[in-house]
Amino acid sequence: MTDISKIIEELPFYEKLLLKDLEENENISPEEVAKKDNINIKSVMSAAGSLAAKDIITVNKNTEEKVKLSKAGKEFAEKGLPERRVLNVLAYEKEIPMKDLAKKCGLDKKESVIALGWLNRKGWAKIDKGTLKITDKGEEAVDNYGEDEKILKKLFSSQGILKSELTEDELKGLNTINKRKNLIKNKKITSHSFKLNQIGKNIIKHGFEIGDRKEEATQLTHEDLKNGTWKNLHYRPYDINAETPKTFPGKAHPLRKIIEEIREIFLDMGFTESNGTTLDSAFWNFDSLFQPQDHAAREMQDTFYVKNPSECKLPDEEIVKNVAKTHEDGGNTKSTGWGYDWDVDVAKQSVLRTHTTGISTKYLASHEPPLKMFSVGRVFRRETINYKHLPEFHQVEGLVAAEGISFQHLLGILKEFYKKLGFEVRFRPAYFPYTYMSCECEIYLEERHDWIELGGAGMFRPEVLEPLGIKVPALAFGIGIERLAMIRYDISDIRMLYKSDIKWLRDIPLDNGVKLKFDY
Ligand code: DAH
Repeated sequence: MTDISKIIEELPFYEKLLLKDLEENENISPEEVAKKDNINIKSVMSAAGSLAAKDIITVNKNTEEKVKLSKAGKEFAEKGLPERRVLNVLAYEKEIPMKDLAKKCGLDKKESVIALGWLNRKGWAKIDKGTLKITDKGEEAVDNYGEDEKILKKLFSSQGILKSELTEDELKGLNTINKRKNLIKNKKITSHSFKLNQIGKNIIKHGFEIGDRKEEATQLTHEDLKNGTWKNLHYRPYDINAETPKTFPGKAHPLRKIIEEIREIFLDMGFTESNGTTLDSAFWNFDSLFQPQDHAAREMQDTFYVKNPSECKLPDEEIVKNVAKTHEDGGNTKSTGWGYDWDVDVAKQSVLRTHTTGISTKYLASHEPPLKMFSVGRVFRRETINYKHLPEFHQVEGLVAAEGISFQHLLGILKEFYKKLGFEVRFRPAYFPYTYMSCECEIYLEERHDWIELGGAGMFRPEVLEPLGIKVPALAFGIGIERLAMIRYDISDIRMLYKSDIKWLRDIPLDNGVKLKFDY
């Protein structure tokens, strides 16, 4: 098959139809094609676009300016320009005392001002000792309309005129009219025209049949197969190299995606998932973690206290008593405690949890070791929003309690977890009121030449374990998830994760095969 006949073979019905029309008259407009073939203009333009993409025709876009009168313009056209209305009176009165001008000429205040301005500009009249007098130029103008007035009249009797159709004088008139504001409206009119390219001309020279539209099949239907009509159908060949429009199927949000990845990792490592509540008592959020009631983290500026409900239920009296005693004098832990009077009302206060570590203590209070637990949840802090801080973010908390568990295990578990996520971390000694020993995990960011902190970890102190009745060592850790997402997706501003920036969301690849399980 020659190139040309292959091209013809692949032409869809509408494109052939358009080519036939162009064969008859190359100057035919899209509107005329639509009318002649009784198809809508969109089909014509899409056929034309497709022919143009194959270099068979060229589609030219022409924009023209159309001028029209505005509402104010129509009013002026109907009544006459204010200076003309004055001139009409002056034509027989010759002069008008200024104080009578508005009344005599039937003008309002604004029109009088306009009239005087333009009478002066056009030299039709001048003011002499409080009287407006017609000039020679004015006398001449009585029966001779200016270009501005002529074009105003012409526009008034039309629905708008293309600028390209105006004479030079008319354009001058239009310019003058345009010096007054808001009388004329300009509108851009776009039209298209076609031109046959060499390939188009060759196709026409070669000759082709349009064919019957109904016979052209793009799909083989069940019916066609059953009743044998498939044998007579004309199939348009597919161009498998044709570009297709980009599609954006729904996908998990990057933050959700990393949360799912983290869940998968802990589940794979044999941890059991648990969940806490975003609203919790200060007891679980602070007291159970041996944070004294005057601890800085509890201050209003760090923690969101909730008004309604203002109080939460406390657990079994036994646990509360043990925690209270440990705070006051160390209880059975050999610690001296913090040495103050523990207040049950402070412990009852409702807070939006500031970390997920309260889940660990609550879990220990109701589960028998050995145990491995993790939990993902949102936490809240009164932070000023900036590129690395949000007042609301996610943490993953982990807990392992069993005979023989040590700080070594903690470092090993964390190392393994980060490795699975694709990060290499280092550990730095740290302090938390509820752990000893304690550490922070950090990752080195090449582009910032700095280490950034990812989370805290440690061995729960006896002051935490003893009141809950736990007799074995326990390790725990809490890791901020948004920070991990920032590094994973290479974003420098944490707010991006919450901005719903559609371009960013569309472009970001999520291709490591972790499936979405359920919501938080
Ligand atoms: N709760 C700490 C925070 O929000 C992180 C943390 C430190 C959690 C030590 C722990 C831990 O479980 O043992 O920064």
